[in-house]
Amino acid sequence: MAAKAMAAGPALRCPLASDDYRSTPMSLTRIHNLSISLDGFATGEPQSMETPFGHAGERLHEWMFATRFWAKTSGTMGADHAFAERHEPGIGAEIMGANKFGPPGWQDDADWKGWWGPNPPFHTPTFVLTHRPRPPIEMAGGTTFHFLDASPTEALQAAREAAGGQDVRIGGGATVVRDFVAAGLVDHMHLVQVPIVLGRGIRVWDGLEALEEDYDIEAVSTPSGVTHLTFTRRTGGN
Ligand SMILES: NC(=O)c1ccc[n+]([C@@H]2O[C@H](COP(=O)([O-])OP(=O)(O)OC[C@H]3O[C@@H](n4cnc5c(N)ncnc54)[C@H](OP(=O)(O)O)[C@@H]3O)[C@@H](O)[C@H]2O)c1
Repeated sequence: MAAKAMAAGPALRCPLASDDYRSTPMSLTRIHNLSISLDGFATGEPQSMETPFGHAGERLHEWMFATRFWAKTSGTMGADHAFAERHEPGIGAEIMGANKFGPPGWQDDADWKGWWGPNPPFHTPTFVLTHRPRPPIEMAGGTTFHFLDASPTEALQAAREAAGGQDVRIGGGATVVRDFVAAGLVDHMHLVQVPIVLGRGIRVWDGLEALEEDYDIEAVSTPSGVTHLTFTRRTGGN
């Protein structure tokens, strides 16, 4: 289902604004496969158990469902697949928001363990930001959900320690992505602009005026009709 459509990316080793980056392996903070409408919404409204993406339905992720990355043995192996499969390699932990983890009110359900069943697709420590934290939940396949009421900087520190030297993925939703980008914590971001106009929902861009000054930005449109946008944080002096 669409609620499972939280993808991510490659074992990039992008230099940061640091003098010694060339000799020191660094854990990067990455975002992958975050799908947005032409008007910048990463989800529609209202979110619910039946419609996790609100009125957007599955339209934000149809490009990804068609790829082999998603469909496994079937699916396309072209440019969309090449971008999509960067989601996983090199990731040692994920951070997500409370509204990605579950529908409104999940905190009132002591048995809620996320959308993804007994073996979630993260396979790493996964940190859920929420103002109503609960004890960790160990799932099959290497995913342990940890619940944190913490600032983005504190959450990233915890995730980085758990990632064992690998990169940390910010898995969404829109609010958490926006907060981590605004705090200057994101090294590489891959967005996928889907040719639909949602008109309402939660926008990624609010409060991020002049973001382009901090990132090298590339765009690639593919035959499916989406545009892949990559934002790579500039090194010092650029
Ligand atoms: N388009 C895509 O590719 C994509 C990817 C992932 C998810 N999504 C969708 O995006 C939607 C979720 O996005 P969203 O913007 O509504 O919410 P979100 O970013 O998933 O979560 C925001 C919530 O997380 C909690 N939170 C955030 N920062 C916190 C902090 N520093 N400390 C403690 N708690 C914190 C708060 O919840 P509480 O106060 O309730 O605890 C906050 O309301 C869902 O529909 C999901 O399916 C889309």
